[in-house]
Formats: sequence, structure tokens, C-alpha cells
Amino acid sequence: MRRQSRKQNMKKKSITHPPFDKYELYKESVQSPEADVEFLKNAYQELSGKKPAILREDFCGTFALCCEWVKFSPEHLAIGLDIDQEPIGYGKEKYFSELDEAEKERLTLIERDVLSEEGLPSADIVCALNFSYFCFKDRETLKRYFQKVADSLNPGGIFVLDCFGGGKCCEANEEETEFTDLKFSYFWDQDSYDPLNNHAKFYIHFKRHGEKKRERVFTYDWRMWSIPELRDILKEVGLAETHTYWEGNDEDGEGNGVFSKTESGEECESWVAYIVGRKAP
Ligand SMILES: C[S@@+](CC[C@H](N)C(=O)[O-])C[C@H]1O[C@@H](n2cnc3c(N)ncnc32)[C@H](O)[C@@H]1O
Repeated sequence: MRRQSRKQNMKKKSITHPPFDKYELYKESVQSPEADVEFLKNAYQELSGKKPAILREDFCGTFALCCEWVKFSPEHLAIGLDIDQEPIGYGKEKYFSELDEAEKERLTLIERDVLSEEGLPSADIVCALNFSYFCFKDRETLKRYFQKVADSLNPGGIFVLDCFGGGKCCEANEEETEFTDLKFSYFWDQDSYDPLNNHAKFYIHFKRHGEKKRERVFTYDWRMWSIPELRDILKEVGLAETHTYWEGNDEDGEGNGVFSKTESGEECESWVAYIVGRKAP
């Protein structure tokens, strides 16, 4: 191990951080609510030729996306739904409190299981992002959830899911992303993958500069669903059309963050795509 000079040690000790906030680091690492709002409204307009009004964010967690949605337009209403009071409570304190009174009135929060018998409120767009629905490991349960979504969509409404895959997701590996300006690293740790059932375990770790790594801050026990499996189930629950939005490349061959509707992708070690199912108008 390399020994650090005294000067380096002193420099390290002088870093000061605010209190550790797992949801803040999560937001910086994996969420982009402004980009999600753009994608959702553009996809709805492309497929329906109209502007959407009501967004329902299932598995909303801290509902950062709902907040961006109501901020974007006075015509926008949002419903956030999550089973867990902890992230909802965090979102109320950190994000909801920043909204003006009119925006607050256009946002509804529901603490509920998406599979509950009470059903799901109607919407023009329903989304389940950051792969949240991967928690449903068997087809029957996933289909039950998709059916509830299909039943709750307004005519011409869309259901938007993100999905990830590629060869790198079929093996254990850990990837570090350093956010130099924010003085921390984010680690996406794929702990296991079982090719017999596509079950996989993931962890998120964080390490702030000058501190020890905080292991397993978030844990995900998931089934990796494939795009054709998802599209088949969306059709089976009655959604008239299904589409895939695939990411374009920048000049270095890396993803450029621009997703377009297409019927053919390309083989790559790791990809993220959106699947959109549309209810008949
Ligand atoms: C991976 S987080 C995603 C949070 C957010 N959608 C995002 O984009 O980062 C998954 C969320 O799903 C919620 N969740 C898990 N099972 C659920 C269920 N059956 N019904 C509603 N919410 C659920 C968890 O409480 C958690 O907040």
C-alpha cells in the first residue's frame, strides 16, 4: 500500500461535508427529473399528437419527477405513488416544500402498494422509472401490475418503463463514478446474476472524499426483464401499441442521452432503453 505524506493526510482531513444524505447522493448519481419530464411529454406528443396533463409516477420514492412535472406547466398535474413512507417523507421536506402554492395544489401523494385492491388513479402518462418494476420477479405478478396500469390509463394514454441490459449485466461487477465537484463517488455493484431465472442482486455504495466507503446504502433484489418480454406483456394487457426508444451515440460511440423510437437496436455491453405502451384513443 502507498503511504501518504503528512501533508496529504492533513489535506484530506480538512474536507468538510454536510450531514450524510443518501437521497441527495442518489439524486445526483442516478436521477435526472428535468430530462425525464422532457422525454415523457415528447413521447406523449409524438404518439398522441396532443399535450399531456396528468402524470402518475408509480414507485415514486422521493417524487422528484412529480415536482418537476408540476413546475413545468400550470396545465400539469402529478400523482406520486409509493409503498414506503420514508422516501415520501423526505420528498415532502426537501422538494415539495420548495414548490409554490399553485404547484403544491397540482400534486397528490398516495402511500400505497401498486398492486393494492384499491386500484390506481387515472392518468395520461404513467411511468415506472429507474427499473422499479424489476422487483416483480414472476410474470404473473408483473402482468397483474401492467393490467392495473392499462386499466387506469386515459384513452390514448401511455405507460413508460425504462429497462437495462447488455452482456455486462450478466456477470458480477462493480463500477465507480466519481463526482469530483460534489466530492463523492457512486458505486453500482452488481453482486450476482443467475442465468437460469435472470435474478440479480445490486447494491449502491457511496464514498465521500476523505471518508470511508458506505456500503449497501441501497439494495435491489431484481429480475432482469428483457424488452421483448415486456412488450409481449404490455400487448397481453390490452395496450394497442408498444414502442422502444433506443439511445443514440456520441462521436466516441458512447450513449448521447437522446432516445428515439426504433425497431432495431445494436449489441452493446450495457444499454438503457425506454419501452412505451399506448392505450387505444
Ligand atoms: C428504485 S426506487 C425508485 C424510485 C424512483 N422511481 C426513481 O426514479 O429513482 C423503488 C421505489 O419503489 C417503491 N416500491 C417498491 N415496491 C412497491 C410497491 N409494490 N408499490 C409501490 N411502491 C413500491 C420503493 O418504496 C421505492 O421507493
